[in-house]
Amino acid sequence: MASPTHPTPTHQHILVGPPLSNNLFDTAYQCLMAAEFAEKILLTQTAAQTWRAGQLSLTATTPPQPILTPGQPARLRLVSASEVPRRTLTTPLGPAALLHALAHIEFNAINLAWDAVYRFRELPLEFYADWIQVAEEEATHFMLLQTQLAKLGHTYGEFTAHNGLWEMAIDTAHEVLVRMALVPRLLEARGLDATPPILAKLKSQQLTALVDILELILRDEIGHVAIGSRWFAYLCEQRGLPPTDTFFQLIQQYFRGRLYSQLNKPARLAAGFSPEELERLEEMFELTAKSS
Ligand SMILES: [Fe+2]
Ligand SMILES: [Fe+2]
Repeated sequence: MASPTHPTPTHQHILVGPPLSNNLFDTAYQCLMAAEFAEKILLTQTAAQTWRAGQLSLTATTPPQPILTPGQPARLRLVSASEVPRRTLTTPLGPAALLHALAHIEFNAINLAWDAVYRFRELPLEFYADWIQVAEEEATHFMLLQTQLAKLGHTYGEFTAHNGLWEMAIDTAHEVLVRMALVPRLLEARGLDATPPILAKLKSQQLTALVDILELILRDEIGHVAIGSRWFAYLCEQRGLPPTDTFFQLIQQYFRGRLYSQLNKPARLAAGFSPEELERLEEMFELTAKSS
């Protein structure tokens, strides 16, 4: 018989899903290594709720391990960027291929957020709170896209995809300052630039459901890049490094791809880039465009 003093359920009492450790770093690892998307999303949401309920400790039980391959669907075939077929929106598979490519970015972004939590230790509590929030928002982005993909009769893992995002995670795994510069402030920030032209194409095809989703994602991504900017500035200050010069040195040192796009200046300014950084990025992009 139920106790008459049984408490009214709150969000802390109705958690569902697989059991998680009571340690944040083990929990982050579990989320990171979950392979199927349904499992990763459920674990991520449960972990974020458990964190907010104050039930995850910051006492590490094991040191961070290198992760060459994070959890991802077994059927997902990773190829080099040049081998990913280019399909325009007007071809039969075009909308599904675009949705799959965007879902792949969000799936990687969940892994990258959990990897930041898992790998970098002894940072302020707010660092972990920020990246857990990012992981949860990336999970929402992924599900919005996956739901649209399912409406077209497809699912994440069916199309080929490239591994550039995780390769950058491996290259920056040794140093949180480098990670903050290269992942949120370089790769995620390029997403801010890339979204307006995609939105324009979607609008011209009257794909309004997708337009709404991408506009929501863009708003959240400004926040993610801002979180990267905040921690990059914090780490530079702690180490007595000049932030702007350090940022550009790290791009030169670690980034091998081609860099050019039309900067989304309002979004980048809102995400913590200084006007000087934007000027230097523009110069860099112009040089790349001329040499290609
Ligand atoms: Fe996202
Ligand atoms: Fe993001």
